[in-house]
Amino acid sequence: MAETPLTVQAFLHQAQAQGVARLDAMLLLGEAVQQSRTWLIAHSEYALTPIETQQAMHWLHQRALGVPLAYLLGRREFHGLMLKVTPAVLDPRPDTETLVDWALEVWPDAEPTGGPSSPSRPLRVLDLGTGSGAIALALKAAHPLAQVHACDASPAALEVAQNNATSLGLPLTFHTGHWWGAVHGLRFDLAVANPPYIREDDPHLPALVHEPASALVAGQQGLADLWSIIEAAPSHLEAGAWLLLEHGHDQASAVAQALVEAGFVDIAHRHDLSGHTRCTGGRLPR
Ligand SMILES: C[S@@+](CC[C@H](N)C(=O)[O-])C[C@H]1O[C@@H](n2cnc3c(N)ncnc32)[C@H](O)[C@@H]1O
Repeated sequence: MAETPLTVQAFLHQAQAQGVARLDAMLLLGEAVQQSRTWLIAHSEYALTPIETQQAMHWLHQRALGVPLAYLLGRREFHGLMLKVTPAVLDPRPDTETLVDWALEVWPDAEPTGGPSSPSRPLRVLDLGTGSGAIALALKAAHPLAQVHACDASPAALEVAQNNATSLGLPLTFHTGHWWGAVHGLRFDLAVANPPYIREDDPHLPALVHEPASALVAGQQGLADLWSIIEAAPSHLEAGAWLLLEHGHDQASAVAQALVEAGFVDIAHRHDLSGHTRCTGGRLPR
């Protein structure tokens, strides 16, 4: 006897039974049948073809296992840009847009002053640990004349970032290597980083098992990479340059203290979309 074809409505019931959010299920189904959410809502009795059924059920199963939606769809919108995302990179988080907005806020302050002894030149900006290129590309999109550099220790991540830069028509300068070591000999007017900051024993880690551990976990209570970046920052930044960092919700005071010890002034914080203090930064004295 032939199997009853899977309808849109039946798929959404299955998603609910497997604990997958309705919005995620709609997006996956829409991708499988190449239709919009509006179309799905209007065609709840549509019977999927066998190929569509196989694809949609595979994705549903993966999503139920916790695979990020962005990996299944292969894309994620970040600060108005559509980025290609693969399991080689962190799935960019909406909270990280806070760091981008803050960088855009301090931007005028970071502009080189020019003048006879220091001729005007493009602003030089660095995104440390760029992953998919999310932060660097958002900054380049907002300020196309700036020279935006992006570094990462992972060649696989840089490949994704490079593809994004090409397909968005936003040229960046890429460097492979360990934090500032990747940009040896260069100085920047502004630097931003969303480094790994989750402690090895964090109870939330098992839920993040599908993302690269090298993008998430850091030693010394999650502070090791933040400290490496802060300590070496002054010798890679121009006078007056800002360093803005994303971190965990309970790391703001440790990051602020490290910034002060490294010689930064005007230490300030920003909150994420849930109101937690998730970004801390400072400026080198002029
Ligand atoms: C939390 S992810 C951030 C990715 C991206 N900036 C974002 O906000 O979506 C941290 C990134 O830092 C990179 N990374 C980890 N250790 C590094 C190191 N020692 N030097 C340079 N990059 C590193 C990882 O490969 C990863 O891409």
